Amino acid sequence: MSGARRGRFITLEGPDGSGKTTAARHLADWLRSRGEPTVLTGEPGGTPLGEEVRRLVLHLRDVSDDLDPRADALLFAAARAQHTSRLILPALERGEHVVCARYLDSSLAYQGAAYGIDADEIRRLQRFATFEVVPDLTILVDVPVEVGLARKRRGEWNRFEDTEGARFFETVRSAYLGFAAAEPERYRVVDGSGSVEATDAAIRAVVEPFIFPRTQDRSAPG
Ligand code: TYD
Repeated sequence: MSGARRGRFITLEGPDGSGKTTAARHLADWLRSRGEPTVLTGEPGGTPLGEEVRRLVLHLRDVSDDLDPRADALLFAAARAQHTSRLILPALERGEHVVCARYLDSSLAYQGAAYGIDADEIRRLQRFATFEVVPDLTILVDVPVEVGLARKRRGEWNRFEDTEGARFFETVRSAYLGFAAAEPERYRVVDGSGSVEATDAAIRAVVEPFIFPRTQDRSAPG
């Protein structure tokens, strides 16, 4: 990088149906409305390869019925490597912010905590897949499992929601809460169980001082 200011990398995480995707879109719109160039993206996806992987891992039933967790982790990791190198890093280096619904913590929560791949192994794989990029800020949009699942109509369920029960999603949720507690400098937890507007407002309150620190300085005493 040539000294230009690098953009900030913000990820939104949470259990299924927490509203991350909508919240990410609203956050990106808000940042742009404040004059901040922002790329909106999400996983699995974000590149043509990522979209292919998404189709494969979320919807191909004959494949996913007997999917080994390591194979699953590698598919998400392949999509993440492509996403990071082709979309996320170039945007950050152009000085744009990146708002991304799901990133490496999804693999730690789902393939790691919920499917039982050893935490150190999955972290090692993430370092490789992400080129050691770590989000500057991760917002956990937290909702009780039953609230999240009830929000999704059955026809929209992916293979996790089709095949896993509430216990699986409880494991995912508590894994996320554990990550947030372990990394308080990177993580903020926002309640996603209220209205879309309430979630958006809570997220903006977290992001505001992070992206616009001088706005805060001016209102500080002295
Ligand atoms: P998606 O339809 O995007 O779910 P949501 O709207 O809840 O974000 O599907 C993403 C699914 O893929 C979700 O159930 C979590 C799972 N997933 C993983 O298991 N590992 C990963 O690394 C990623 C990115 C997603």
